[in-house]
Amino acid sequence: MWKFANPIRHQLPETRWPTQEEAARSLLFQPINVGQLKLSSRTWVPAMVPWRATEDGFVTEANLDWYRRFAEGKPAALVVEATGVRDIPSGPLLRIGHDRFLPGLRKLVEVVRDASQGETKLLIQIIDFLAVRRRPEQQKFFERFLKITDEHRERIRELTRQELWTSAPESEIRNFLNSASEETWPQVLNERELESLQFGYRERVTDTQLSHIDELPRVLPEIFAAAAWRARAAGFDGVELHYAHAYTMASFLSAHNTRTDGYGGARENRVRLPLEVYRAVRQRVGNDYTVGVRFLADEVIEGGNRVSDAMYFGVEFACAGLDFLSISKGGKFEDAQQPKVGQAVYPYTGKSGYECMPTTLSDATGPFGRTVPLVAKIKEAVNQAGFETPVVATGGIGTFQQAEEILERGAADIVGFARQALADPDWFVKVRQGHGAAVRRCTYTNYCEALDQAHKQVTCKLWDRIELDEPGIAFAEDGRRRLIPPGWER
Ligand SMILES: Cc1cc2nc3c(=O)[nH]c(=O)nc-3n(C[C@H](O)[C@H](O)[C@H](O)COP(=O)(O)O)c2cc1C
Ligand code: SF4
Repeated sequence: MWKFANPIRHQLPETRWPTQEEAARSLLFQPINVGQLKLSSRTWVPAMVPWRATEDGFVTEANLDWYRRFAEGKPAALVVEATGVRDIPSGPLLRIGHDRFLPGLRKLVEVVRDASQGETKLLIQIIDFLAVRRRPEQQKFFERFLKITDEHRERIRELTRQELWTSAPESEIRNFLNSASEETWPQVLNERELESLQFGYRERVTDTQLSHIDELPRVLPEIFAAAAWRARAAGFDGVELHYAHAYTMASFLSAHNTRTDGYGGARENRVRLPLEVYRAVRQRVGNDYTVGVRFLADEVIEGGNRVSDAMYFGVEFACAGLDFLSISKGGKFEDAQQPKVGQAVYPYTGKSGYECMPTTLSDATGPFGRTVPLVAKIKEAVNQAGFETPVVATGGIGTFQQAEEILERGAADIVGFARQALADPDWFVKVRQGHGAAVRRCTYTNYCEALDQAHKQVTCKLWDRIELDEPGIAFAEDGRRRLIPPGWER
């Protein structure tokens, strides 16, 4: 995991929890409209992948238990984890790319409605992603994966000053590279080949030499529209288009997108496909359905988008008619750490990953609400352009005081609690009823995120080893962790 050079260990902020009356009067617990949806308060649980779907993307009992447990805490809005829009294998991540996924998703909707007595509005985050392969063994890479070209021959000739390499058979080039020192590789392989060897092969939206990448602008609007229609058919209250982090749509928005087909380069071109996807979705689901977007305040990578880009995108999205703007930060592949052989690169291991899920081992600013100043700028730009589209701020927000202060300052309209809701899904009901002191406070040290990185069922260190003798509880595959927290005993 990436760390600051001279990190400072921050303590959780001291806080005072509101009485029930104070909570009732607070901004946080006032209702707000998000498109056609009426949220009972300004509380929001952003998407979190818990690694509980089946290998082929169906909803499991463990998924139902997970979302039921969040719904019992009655946040106003709960966003279901990033769910794949295509009908392709993608491991144990939820999918919505075919009608066969509908029965499971319908059940999920029912479970949340029942558990929250209709209070929690349920949205689903829909995502497209490109291929990322595991880091290969060196020998396999040179023997099988690397496509040998005359450029390799030429570079080896230059390196060895031996003419015979220009006509060397493929097998000899492979043997040469396999037995060469690591320092030699950059002199023979191009940048992408070296990356494929050291990090695993990873597609980019700029790989337009590949027909399936070239055609993304032609196929994605329909794929997203069909997925959004299924979300509506399953009974979800709305969809969130995942235009954040390391995935396809964020890569179109990225300043790194240099496509020359009208979908890359200038900001106006980079936002074109995200808007076309939105319009296709809107056309399919109708005007009376809530469709929002999650995107980045800053990509936190060299040459990436900054908040000025995000302000521009925010205004474009609001103008196009998106119903909410949920702001995240970072989470990119470009600065991710090298994975171990056999593992895939994880886009939350570099500085941009830190900014996405900041921990208490931080710089002087600390992890608490560190993205809020950028969110405020985006909101200001959107409001100044004449739109009232609600903006959701997330990142290191765990107390009522923090949330209330953000709303009082007008920095955001809604407050997202991701890890804090995972640490204690009853946060919302506890705080509203004046039992804030009973909140199990997230320590922001990312045990949960490490599980996500290892593709293990996500739990929280504050509750996954407690009351293990409770009858009927489900355990993680390792047999040592409970999968959902115990209920709240008042
Ligand atoms: C285990 C885990 C899984 C996550 N999965 C998603 C996801 O599917 N989609 C998404 O947009 N963000 C995802 N995030 C990021 C969170 O939504 C949130 O932006 C981030 O944790 C920072 O907010 P927090 O400080 O309130 O936790 C995930 C975070 C965690 C800890
Ligand atoms: S594991 Fe740690 S960071 Fe994650 S929710 Fe629990 S306390 Fe917070």
